[in-house]
Amino acid sequence: MPDRILVCVAWPYANYLLHVGHVAGAYLPADIFARYHRLRGNETVMVSGSDCHGTPITVSADKEGVEPRAIVDRYHAKIVETWERLGIQWECYTTTLTENHYATTQEVFLKLLEKDYLYRRTQDQLYDPDANRFLPDRYVEGTCPKCGYGEARGDQCDNCGSQMDAIDLLNPRSRMTGATPIVRESEHYFLRLSALEAGLKEWVAPKDHWRRNVQNFTLGMLNEGLIDRAITRDIAWGVPVPVEGWDEKRIYVWFDAVIGYLSATREWAQRKGEPEDWRRFWEDPNARSYYFIGKDNIPFHTVIWPAMLMGYGGLNLPYDVPANQYVNMASGAKQSKSAGTGTWVLNLLDVYAPDTLRFYLTSIFPETSDSVFSEDDLIRANNDVLIGTWGNLANRVISMIHRNFEGVVPESGELAPESSALLADAAAAFGTVASEFEACHFRNAVQEALRVAQAANRYLDERAPWKAVKTDRAHAAQTLATALSAINAIKTLLHPVIPFTTATLHEDLGFDDTIGERGWVFETISPGTRLRPARPLYTKIDTAPAGVAGA
Ligand code: MF3
Ligand code: ZN
Repeated sequence: MPDRILVCVAWPYANYLLHVGHVAGAYLPADIFARYHRLRGNETVMVSGSDCHGTPITVSADKEGVEPRAIVDRYHAKIVETWERLGIQWECYTTTLTENHYATTQEVFLKLLEKDYLYRRTQDQLYDPDANRFLPDRYVEGTCPKCGYGEARGDQCDNCGSQMDAIDLLNPRSRMTGATPIVRESEHYFLRLSALEAGLKEWVAPKDHWRRNVQNFTLGMLNEGLIDRAITRDIAWGVPVPVEGWDEKRIYVWFDAVIGYLSATREWAQRKGEPEDWRRFWEDPNARSYYFIGKDNIPFHTVIWPAMLMGYGGLNLPYDVPANQYVNMASGAKQSKSAGTGTWVLNLLDVYAPDTLRFYLTSIFPETSDSVFSEDDLIRANNDVLIGTWGNLANRVISMIHRNFEGVVPESGELAPESSALLADAAAAFGTVASEFEACHFRNAVQEALRVAQAANRYLDERAPWKAVKTDRAHAAQTLATALSAINAIKTLLHPVIPFTTATLHEDLGFDDTIGERGWVFETISPGTRLRPARPLYTKIDTAPAGVAGA
């Protein structure tokens, strides 16, 4: 029976362009993982959408003097363009503005309310006396009570990563007017995290397949003790609170955003005309869900969302949350969306082929520690590894078969030990690379596939078919046929990482179907197969085009 895999990816706020840090941190690993599982024949659903509510959006809108909707429309379109050009494939990429999402959010709210996991309480809130309004979340800045960072925001400190309430900031100031806020009472709904703490601890403790830092961070939070959190806000932009008399307030953006995983799966099922099909991914405990996020989002995915799901009941909790660290710029500057610096992926795609970018970014996935993006390294990865180790290998062998065997794969004859060894190596890689993909060790997966390419290169050098073809045609035939089968294997192994060029190669190898239709299998290429003329898969890059990666 095929596995059923739900791939959930952090919902990007629709107020900025995506930079390499987001893509290397969450979207590309998720895409590779989902492509691998689809290739494997597993039922795979990858979902996310643009996160359209909350103060990140309204602060941007206020700054430009436009409606929040205008900000969302602009950036949602840019985000979708990024997916298309980079080859990030979704079963459903939507937004938090759909009717379905509002309905799902309100349904979750009401169920939690009915089960007494939500309750009402008045709370002190910061209020701007000049603007005459409350100042939730990002409308206030001040000093972080935990680490002393001076520019912490009311929802989170970007320096130490702690989540907080705006009221906890030291020396708060209004971002609307610069005024020193005053304190006023306001009534809100709270999520009774305190009641779910014990259940969460029991759930997290045995998660030995989680990344150590994710599990430790989560246990650390739980051991400190959870306090109930307000899940409504004094703001006009967001999902309405489904309770009479609450028209002035909205549901907190994080509460609705995480519910997006569920609502997007429902939307996927509705769109394909089987509106109940989402249940097989959420209600069947055999389905596994993976959440691809950056480390700043860990608390929402290993504590808050699981708590909401536990309270709701009957839905699967995350199976794994392979959170990544950060990608820094070569200059050392921190990648930060809100600070407005970074390397925009769309700009890079104007200059570099998507597979070049995907290949390089995979090599710097911050799986265990922060990593560094450098355009010089990108060029080296393209020229020395993608072309040097892999592209040239495919190109040389196909060209030699055209030149010496009229483009038809020759008979191998009885295999020499080194020929059998290369094929055995390539076949075995389907097991090792699969384990690496399944464990979300994407850098290792690529290394394993490249190891086979290196073995194939050594094999070619040793058997020198370009010489042998003049003296021992059968020897050269075996070399080229064997190397071609190894290339065919590497094509499949690397397909989740570099889907565009491997699809081109697949056609050049004479196939009429797609790699996806053949699946995750080791296959030799049969003698007699007619190859198509080889197209160049990659372009050597001479120098860094100026200014692309400038922050
Ligand atoms: N919009 C958030 C961010 O960009 C991430 C939301 S992830 C979800 O940091 F869980 F809420 F979906
Ligand atoms: Zn801090």
